[in-house]
Amino acid sequence: MPQSVTFPWSWYDDADILRLEREHLFRPSWQYVGHVGMLEPPTTHFPAEAGGVPVVVTRGPDDELSALANICAHRGSVVCSAPGTSDRLRCAYHAWTYGLDGSLVRAPRSDREATFEASEHRLRRMAVETWGPFIFVNATGGEPSLEAALGDVPERIAESIVVDRLVFRHRAEASYRANWKICVENFLECYHCRVAHPSFSQVVDTSPDDYVLEAGTAGSSQYGPVRDTWSGRFDPVGPIERGQFHLVHPNTAINVFPGQVNLSIGPVLPTGPDTTVRFLDYFFAEGTDEGWIQTLLELDHAVGAEDLALVESVQRGVSAAPGRRGHLFLDSEVLIAHFQEYVRGALPAEAATDRGPGVHL
Ligand code: FES
Ligand SMILES: [Fe+2]
Repeated sequence: MPQSVTFPWSWYDDADILRLEREHLFRPSWQYVGHVGMLEPPTTHFPAEAGGVPVVVTRGPDDELSALANICAHRGSVVCSAPGTSDRLRCAYHAWTYGLDGSLVRAPRSDREATFEASEHRLRRMAVETWGPFIFVNATGGEPSLEAALGDVPERIAESIVVDRLVFRHRAEASYRANWKICVENFLECYHCRVAHPSFSQVVDTSPDDYVLEAGTAGSSQYGPVRDTWSGRFDPVGPIERGQFHLVHPNTAINVFPGQVNLSIGPVLPTGPDTTVRFLDYFFAEGTDEGWIQTLLELDHAVGAEDLALVESVQRGVSAAPGRRGHLFLDSEVLIAHFQEYVRGALPAEAATDRGPGVHL
């Protein structure tokens, strides 16, 4: 049953909770790391992160896609720090050098070590799968499959978009002085849209009777129709009739705006108990009008800046009152309740008991 109280506010500023979330939510999940265009020849590899683990995604000689833990087998340095075109990955510390499949091909001075076996040392493989052009990596082996983890989201998107035909256009990056759950929860309701996002609300109908919130098995989906009388620079009329905003648990956001064919996707990544980074990759149909793309990016940039101020404001408040909890409206904020239920269910029971209900200031 969804609860109308939030997590204890201490959960938004607690290194122990974050450690448990990394172990139980992030590491076992599929993480969006980038798109297939990032490995177009001559590029052979790029670094990323999956569940807090540094990753290098590679394209081998037969175009075989691999994901390797980007952690040197020697003493643990991160091996690859930038995209590259070489068929070798060379650690900057002592020059241990690996093939694109992670095998160790050279370790200087290893000939002076009588018992050293190169085959016993490699960059560990991680699970990698694609959905259309989108590459996902799983740090702990890939069960359940990416397909299962995405649930019905690809089907919902396929109603209006063929993801294989999307063309990458732009990556936006942002950092927040806020816990990652505050960022996700802000994404999961549009109760604040009319108040805090004037330009978005000129275009999308955010009224409670028309803006749709749907909890799913893999996450949740929101649908925002175009207002009957929309206004502003952004033209929402086109083949995509309504906005779609999906969360795939625990931290992948996927947005489709109304208008021309478009999609943006990216993770919400904790960098500490009260700090978060995000990146968002924007894709469009080939040949989409450049002026229209610009107005979409401007609109989303404005919404992002407004959200940044909101989540940082929440962090200041909840950090100051760790013994309290907030209230959720189970009509307008039901997807936050759904998300919190998922997080509680994924964390070990003792975390929910020790730090859960019954905490008051
Ligand atoms: S840590 Fe990578 S070569 Fe020494
Ligand atoms: Fe918002």
